[in-house]
Amino acid sequence: MTALAEPATAPRSPFDLTGRRAVVTGAGRGLGRAVALGLARAGADVVLLGRPGAQDGTAQALEAEGARTEVLDLDLADHDVIGQVSADVLAAGEVDVLVNNAGIIDRADAVDVARDDWDRVLDVNLTGLFLLTQQLGRPMVERGHGKVVSIASLLSFQGGIRVASYAASKHAVAGLTKALANEWGPAGVQVNAIAPGYIATDNTTALREDPARSAAILDRIPAGRWGAAEDVAGAAVFLSSSAADYVNGHVLVVDGGWMSR
Ligand SMILES: NC(=O)c1ccc[n+]([C@@H]2O[C@H](COP(=O)([O-])OP(=O)(O)OC[C@H]3O[C@@H](n4cnc5c(N)ncnc54)[C@H](O)[C@@H]3O)[C@@H](O)[C@H]2O)c1
Repeated sequence: MTALAEPATAPRSPFDLTGRRAVVTGAGRGLGRAVALGLARAGADVVLLGRPGAQDGTAQALEAEGARTEVLDLDLADHDVIGQVSADVLAAGEVDVLVNNAGIIDRADAVDVARDDWDRVLDVNLTGLFLLTQQLGRPMVERGHGKVVSIASLLSFQGGIRVASYAASKHAVAGLTKALANEWGPAGVQVNAIAPGYIATDNTTALREDPARSAAILDRIPAGRWGAAEDVAGAAVFLSSSAADYVNGHVLVVDGGWMSR
């Protein structure tokens, strides 16, 4: 009896991102940094787009893992430069994956929200995100494949407390995700979002420093702990990979069970 020959190459895991070029916004710290590392560990080349100087530490960490990494400056509130920065990204190569991670939060009673603060949150979390997605998504649609993954929030479903502009922006990110999935799905581009629960990052420092709010939040999380940024990375790898080729317009909750309560 002759032994079966070993296949020349092992079948590729559907989660493997080798050879894919992924753009991540705001990856200098927090969720963006963990997602960029997760994508790199899955094999992707990673382009870091964010505030000047903010991403150097992440770039070094990625390079230490052997990942090909590029860094470009972009302030998502500066809408006039998004076209040029996108052109610079595309001039260096095709984009297979866009992770819209960058986001800001403003905590204030709704009756006291200043117009400038309202605009700042919507400019970054929604309008900047849309304009960048439009620029980097257009070639995906023309080419017939690509993945967009936006970081939404539990406040894409709930109102939260003292975060009116943030909740409005994150509900809009969920709506935009579904609208783009409808338009771009027929062209082979999947547009999804991740709704992280309460994750210990700079975004939630104020909550963790408030004993009453912190205890109330923990009490509702079946996992019994705050999330870590790394908890979100696996979902981002999944939605960026061919394992999610038939997942479109979905907002994937990664919240330790919060929404089940
Ligand atoms: N931490 C949580 O519990 C939580 C929960 C749900 C959703 N989110 C979302 O996850 C994303 C990442 O948040 P995080 O918790 O890591 O917060 P973070 O404050 O640690 O990181 C935010 C990142 O966005 C970047 N950024 C902010 N404004 C920018 C701008 N104008 N242009 C370019 N980059 C900009 C920052 O430099 C930073 O790297 C955000 O969209 C946030 O709304 C966080």
